[in-house]
Amino acid sequence: QKEGYDHFMIKEIIEQSDAVKNTLGQKENIKKVIEEIGDVKRICFVACGTSYHASISGKYLIESLAGIPTDVVIASEAKYTAKTWNEDTLVVFISQSGETYDSLMALKQARETSKTLAVVNVAGSAMTEEADFVIQTQAGPEIGVAATKTYIAQLTAIYLFAGFLAGEEDLIEQLEKVPKYIDEVTIQRKYIKEISSRYDFADDAFFLGRGFSYPIALEGALKLKEITYIHAEGYAAGELKHGPLALIDEDVPVFVIIPPGDDYDKTMTNLEEVRARDAIILSVGAKGDERIAENSRIVFEIDPEVTDIIAPLVYIVPLQLISYYVTLDKGYDPDKPRNLAKVITV
Ligand code: M6R
Repeated sequence: QKEGYDHFMIKEIIEQSDAVKNTLGQKENIKKVIEEIGDVKRICFVACGTSYHASISGKYLIESLAGIPTDVVIASEAKYTAKTWNEDTLVVFISQSGETYDSLMALKQARETSKTLAVVNVAGSAMTEEADFVIQTQAGPEIGVAATKTYIAQLTAIYLFAGFLAGEEDLIEQLEKVPKYIDEVTIQRKYIKEISSRYDFADDAFFLGRGFSYPIALEGALKLKEITYIHAEGYAAGELKHGPLALIDEDVPVFVIIPPGDDYDKTMTNLEEVRARDAIILSVGAKGDERIAENSRIVFEIDPEVTDIIAPLVYIVPLQLISYYVTLDKGYDPDKPRNLAKVITV
């Protein structure tokens, strides 16, 4: 039930801090799964849509922390990469529903060659029956078609998995603070609502992020396009000059995801490139960062303790909120975007 909220989507965005807390409760299970899986030389994530974006975060994290070569493939394209799977590969399926047809077909194929792990939110779903190992995310039922809290729960599970795999206790400690950081954003929703009404004129929007923030850009763009019907593209910030810069002018909103961390300076250079074309820059960055503030029309401020590695769990939240409020301004139902279904079994 909506419990007093206007839509499931806003309720589910606000519930994201609980989705993290509850999924953190899976620590012991995840450690056990890692022990049982044993030695892994290569990991391959398979997923669709938002779950694919969570998988990209998994790749960046596992490669940088555990040094295990990791691929990510879209489930409907997996049959080509599948030819390279073998007994040393762990194939990881990320799925909210656990029923997505293309992911399920790829899982059946992966079972023939490799160890398989399914990270799903819906208990007892088809993928939990097929996979060798299962991690259950604890987001609770998600009714809105746009994935929000299940995405954050997937990330939490993936971060725990990568953190334990790499023996990075620091990362696990940082995760404990994520619910607080998320609440600090959702509490600012009136401000975000007010901003959204200024930008509902846009026909196109770009989202830029580098490194750990690249999948945030992809997910931010997906949220905007699927519920507001505004054309939106997420790009690795460094790709800007290889094409999309041609489309940037003074009418185009560009969301720049720029947390503190190793990629900050390079992302700032990209931000300045779009600023030179007078684009409408809406940044997501650390509270109190004056350089970002000087160069942006709008800044969505995040706790400065949130650095690039854990940014995916927090920096997406203002982007979800802006998509939600722009949808309301346009008079659409955010819970039921046209042509889309919650579970894709065909
Ligand atoms: O149930 P799944 O996670 O396997 O679903 C995959 C996609 O259909 C899903 O993530 C979709 O992209 C989102 N609902 C978009 O918000």
